[in-house]
Amino acid sequence: MIIEPKIRDFICTTAHPIGCTENVKEQIEYTKQQGTLKGPKKVLIIGCSSGYGLSSRIAATYTYGADTLGVMFEKPSNGRRTATAGYYNTKAFENQAREDGFFAETINGDAFSREVKQETIEKIRKDFGKVDMVIYSLAAPRRKMDDGTTFSSALKTIGQPFSNKSLNLRNNEVVMASIPPATEEEISSTVKVMGGEDWQDWVQALYDGDVMAENALTIAYSYIGPKLTYPVYYEGTIGTAKKHLYQTAVDLNHMFKEKGLTAYVSVNKALVTQSSAAIPIVPLYMALLYKVMKEKGVHEGCIEQINRLFHEKLNGTPVLDKDGRIRLDDWELESDIQEEIMKRWDKVTTENVKELADIDGYWEDFYHIFGFGFKNVDYSEDVSLEM
Ligand code: NAI
Repeated sequence: MIIEPKIRDFICTTAHPIGCTENVKEQIEYTKQQGTLKGPKKVLIIGCSSGYGLSSRIAATYTYGADTLGVMFEKPSNGRRTATAGYYNTKAFENQAREDGFFAETINGDAFSREVKQETIEKIRKDFGKVDMVIYSLAAPRRKMDDGTTFSSALKTIGQPFSNKSLNLRNNEVVMASIPPATEEEISSTVKVMGGEDWQDWVQALYDGDVMAENALTIAYSYIGPKLTYPVYYEGTIGTAKKHLYQTAVDLNHMFKEKGLTAYVSVNKALVTQSSAAIPIVPLYMALLYKVMKEKGVHEGCIEQINRLFHEKLNGTPVLDKDGRIRLDDWELESDIQEEIMKRWDKVTTENVKELADIDGYWEDFYHIFGFGFKNVDYSEDVSLEM
């Protein structure tokens, strides 16, 4: 079958197996060039198949030489439709990692469920050996509880509605977008989905199952961003969930102190992923951010961020902010970068957006997520939907 991108709003409903393999290969190559480090050897990545989680898995394998067990929620091909990108990414990663002599297996199921936690613990016990690092990189629209109740996350403000410029992803026009305030129920549901409760459940379950090594490390990813996006992100529903995630790190450090656990939140840079494209206003900010950071030579993607995490933030004495968080958003939030973005934000219109913002870079990253737009992949070739 010849596979083409089929884009609907902020999602692409097809994925290219060869392109996804290329994406993984490039990330492995980049990581190898950064050199190796001593570090964790048995890494569990929850949300391992795309974005920050995939890059974490790749970097753990090729920086630390770690075996990895991943958890993801992805769809294989049904013979007519392509698999999801995360599915192809994971197959490509597993094939390469195994060829290079690493253990790499993945559990495909709902990470929020008790069954998947149990399956993971059994797998660790049987085939993997105790885990010394747990990376929590889930980005999910909803969470189904064990009793069947489902909570959905909302991308809304709190208190007042918020209007600002936004990029219409259908036609690259700069338009005004208005985001309504969330109800109390929407706020608490978002915290249920994207806060720290499930992270804590995972860590507790891993200790209860006696599959955590002494002095293990666990990291969950977060975002803060600039004041510009506070109403939609940091001070909105998702930011409230992220504050809960941070509090969970504090709690985990107390709860499992005698086991030697260290729990961190790493505040990462805004990047185009399947999840972040769904947030209103943020894509325009990201396109401006890409342009300004590229001009200043400090732009990074997920793999560069995670390599910097391992090489610069966690190598030796951890580099933390005053609240004990890792800050990979340090370059994004540099005052010269943010001042330049604000200047452009005021000026940006549909007419000049291509000049002021990196629209092409935004879309390049977007297509790459689904395995499209790689120069050395021949997209006119017939490919099998299976890997
Ligand atoms: P992504 O959409 O690329 O990846 C999400 C991962 O979660 C995938 O592996 C997916 O299979 C998995 N997943 C989703 N629901 C699941 C479920 N029910 N069970 C098992 N696996 C499930 O997301 P991205 O952007 O890499 O986000 C990961 C984390 O990084 C999130 O916590 C996000 O808030 C954070 N972050 C993202 C930033 C960004 O700009 N993209 C910036 C800073 C932090």
